[in-house]
Amino acid sequence: MRVLLTGAAGFIGSRIGRRLVERGHDVVGVDAFLPVAHGSTPDGPTHDVDGVGPVRVLDLRTADLDDLLDGVDVVCHQAAMVGNGVDAQDLPDYADHNDHATARLLAAMARADVGRLVLASSMVVYGDGRYDCPRDGEVPPAVRRVDDLDAGRFDPRCPVCGGDVTWTRVTEDAPLRPRTSYAASKLAQEHFADAWCTLQDGRAVALRYHNVYGPGMPADTPYSGVAAIFRSALERGEAPRVFEDGEQVRDFVHVDDVALANALAVEQVDGHEVGVTAYNVASGHPFTIGQMARTLAAAVGGDEPVVTGNYRRFDVRHVLASPERAAEGLGFRAEVRPEDGVARLASDPLRRR
Ligand code: UD1
Repeated sequence: MRVLLTGAAGFIGSRIGRRLVERGHDVVGVDAFLPVAHGSTPDGPTHDVDGVGPVRVLDLRTADLDDLLDGVDVVCHQAAMVGNGVDAQDLPDYADHNDHATARLLAAMARADVGRLVLASSMVVYGDGRYDCPRDGEVPPAVRRVDDLDAGRFDPRCPVCGGDVTWTRVTEDAPLRPRTSYAASKLAQEHFADAWCTLQDGRAVALRYHNVYGPGMPADTPYSGVAAIFRSALERGEAPRVFEDGEQVRDFVHVDDVALANALAVEQVDGHEVGVTAYNVASGHPFTIGQMARTLAAAVGGDEPVVTGNYRRFDVRHVLASPERAAEGLGFRAEVRPEDGVARLASDPLRRR
């Protein structure tokens, strides 16, 4: 198949490109090479990306997209501004890069009669994970109270009775409650895709990535996830600093598994119903932030992690995915277990700007 791959030079996009090429697809790669991710924008019209080939330097917000879509069967849309989006001054950039650009791409797909889309979405669309209350059943949690956090009570409370809750797996039909500008922009992408499907009889698969890690992940930047932050600290000879009590659960999914999920989605999007079908892309194995820090520190023989008890107000407590729907709908099952992939991350190359 001929696949237009956006964000083809990025941490995740380049891995997807390589996987698509290996599976015999014809990949048309484009990337804006944003300085925040790539350091500088290349001078020429294309830039070689290892395993993908020449990637066109192109900004989806402004470029003419019509020629690009000539003969394309599926668009695999990975280009996005990532991070947590905790500064209000970033709001216009998230809307511009993630939503305006997606809307332009969808409009161009409609003109070119390209009816299949694979969209990089994120678990951030759920907001927090899901929890069970012994009294009120499965609930979305109440936003954590500052006095609780200050007192070292990090687990959220039941929004109904205020009592203790325990985490459970988040399924794709969970309520969508984006809490940051990044999250709002990712959910808006899903909504724009939905509108496009209705107008065009289109088929879209939205892949909700959980915490992606692996070779090529960006090193220590304001937008880096915790795995890269810990790895970079250890490289500097410092102990990883674990917030809260280190018992926060996440679903760490290896970038090679994310690439596999995308390849399966590209190949099978046509067999889906008209509209957007969302899938969690996750390992399905709970892994705590404390475990992540200890595993990395042990793998490099570095200092024992320090559990600080500090917290970030925008953080959610536990998010673990149900991997069931992706297994049924795409035949996707993650191959890398977090304990193995994270130990390998200790020596994986990271992307430096
Ligand atoms: C991350 C991404 C988010 C992405 C999501 C799913 C970032 C900054 N966040 O969110 O954009 O959509 O995964 O892939 O890229 N922590 C520490 N020490 C640190 C930094 C963080 O203990 O130095 C803790 C945090 O308090 C939190 C956990 O690690 O509890 C995870 O933090 P983070 O990596 O920012 O990830 P998510 O919030 O899960």
